[in-house]
Amino acid sequence: METSQPYKTIPRISGAPLIGNLSEFRASRLDLLLRVSRECGDIGSFRIGPVEVVVISSATLANSLLVGHAEDFNGGPIGRIFVPLVGEKSLIFQDGAPHREQRKLLAPSFHPKRLAEFCQSMTRYTQEAASGWQDGQMLDMVHEMTILTMRIIGKTMFDVDFQNEAPELREAMMVTLEHLDHMSSSAPIPLSWPTARNKRARAAIATIDNSIRAMIDERRRDSTDRKDMMSSLLQVRDDAGQPIDESQIRAHIVTFFSAGHETTALALSWTWQLLARHPEVYAKVRQEVDALGGKSPGFEDLPRLSYLQQVIKESLRLHPTIFMIARAAVRDVEIDGYPIRKGQMVLIPPYCIHRNPEYFPEPERFQPERFETEREKSRPKQSYMPFGSGPHTCIGSHFAMMETQLIMATMLQQLDLELPAGEQVKPQVLTVSLRPSAYKMRVKRRSGDAPQTKVA
Ligand code: HEM
Repeated sequence: METSQPYKTIPRISGAPLIGNLSEFRASRLDLLLRVSRECGDIGSFRIGPVEVVVISSATLANSLLVGHAEDFNGGPIGRIFVPLVGEKSLIFQDGAPHREQRKLLAPSFHPKRLAEFCQSMTRYTQEAASGWQDGQMLDMVHEMTILTMRIIGKTMFDVDFQNEAPELREAMMVTLEHLDHMSSSAPIPLSWPTARNKRARAAIATIDNSIRAMIDERRRDSTDRKDMMSSLLQVRDDAGQPIDESQIRAHIVTFFSAGHETTALALSWTWQLLARHPEVYAKVRQEVDALGGKSPGFEDLPRLSYLQQVIKESLRLHPTIFMIARAAVRDVEIDGYPIRKGQMVLIPPYCIHRNPEYFPEPERFQPERFETEREKSRPKQSYMPFGSGPHTCIGSHFAMMETQLIMATMLQQLDLELPAGEQVKPQVLTVSLRPSAYKMRVKRRSGDAPQTKVA
C-alpha cells in the first residue's frame, strides 16, 4: 500500500466485549448493516468476535472497490459453500484474465437477440400456470413463483420441461439447493463427511453431473440448435477456434440454473405484494398491460411495459434479492484513502446503498417514478446496483428483467391478485439472499378469454 497522504480511519460501531456485534448479526443482519451505514456513513465496520468486517454504503466507494480495484479482491469465503454444486470453474469463483475470457465467450449467449428466443417459453409457462389457478384460490406466492421460474430456467437453459420431463434432474437440483440453504443457515459440515444428509446431497450432485454430461453428448451427436443456453454454449468458439470444454459448460449451466431462478422468483414475490399494497400503482400497471389489447406479450412489447419495468426496479431497490455483495482483499490496498488489509472482508450491501437518502429521498417509500429515465440518469452510478457492478456484475440481468416483466404482464392479463387484510410479509435472509416470508394472495380471475400464444 503506497500513499502520500495519511490513511483515513474506518469508523467502527460499538459492540459487546469479546463477541463484538455477533448477537446483532445473528438477530438481524439487515438491521446491523443499516446501523453501520447510519452511524458510520460511507464506510464503517462491525466486529464478529475478533474479525472486523468493513461495510460500504456509498456509490463512490462501491464503484472504487468493485470496478477500480476489482483485481485486488475476490469473492471471499461466503460464497464458497456453492463450490460442490457449481464447481471451481463457475464464473463466481474465477477472477482476472480467465474470468474475463469466459465472460467474453458468454456474451453472445446473453445477447438480446438470443434472449428474445426465450420469451415464448416465459409467457407460455406463465399462461399455463395462471390458467390452472381458480377464482378465489389462495396462492402461496413464493412457492408458485419458484415453481414457475424453475420451469422457465429448465426450458431456457437445457430445453427440459420439468413439469413433464427429467424428474430425477429436477429432484436432484431441488435436493442440492435445499442442502446449500441448510449449509448457509447452520454450522457447515464438510460435504465429504458421511452423514445421511451429505450422502443424499452427493448423490444429487452426481445425478446433475451425469444428466448434464448426457445432454452434452446428445447435443454433440445431433447439433440442431434447440434455441436454449446449452445449444448456444456448444456453438461458442474462442479466438483459436476451440469450443468451451465440457466441465466448463457444466459449470456455466449449473451456475445459471442456481443463480437464475430463485433470485427472480424472489423479485417477483416482493413485487406482487408491493403492488397489492399500492392500488394506484397496481391500476397504472394494469392499464399498461391492457393497452397490449390482449396480445400475449413478446420481446417487442417490452418497451410498452415501461411503467411495469419501473415498478420492478423500485421493488429491487427496496428488496434487492442479493442484499449484500461480499469481497475479501487479496492484498493490502487503499480505497479512496481507507486502508484495507489483505484478507479483510468487505461487504457492499445494495440494501443499504439503496436506502441512502442522498440518492433516494424518503428511501422507505415505494415510488416507481424514481426510475423515470431522466431521474434515473441524474443519480450517480452504483447508487442503484441490484445486479452488482464491475467484472462480476450479473450476466443474467437482462434475462431477469425480461422474465419478470413478461411473467407479471401475462399473469395480469388473466387475473388480479389480492393481498388479504393483515397478511404479513417479513424479510428473511439466507447467506446473501433476501426473501419474503411465505405469504398468500387471492386469485380473482378476469373475465374474457386468456390470450393465446403459439405452442412450440
Ligand atoms: C432478479 C434476479 C437477479 C438478481 C437480483 C441477481 C443479482 C446478481 C448479483 C448482485 C450478482 C453479482 C454478485 C457479485 O458481484 O458477487 C450476480 C451475479 C451473477 N448472476 Fe445474477 N441476479 C439475478 C438473476 C440472474 C439470472 C436470471 C441469471 C442467469 C440466467 C444470473 C446469473 C448470474 C451469474 C452467472 C453471476 C456471476 C457473474 C460473474 O461472477 O461473472 N443471475 N447476480
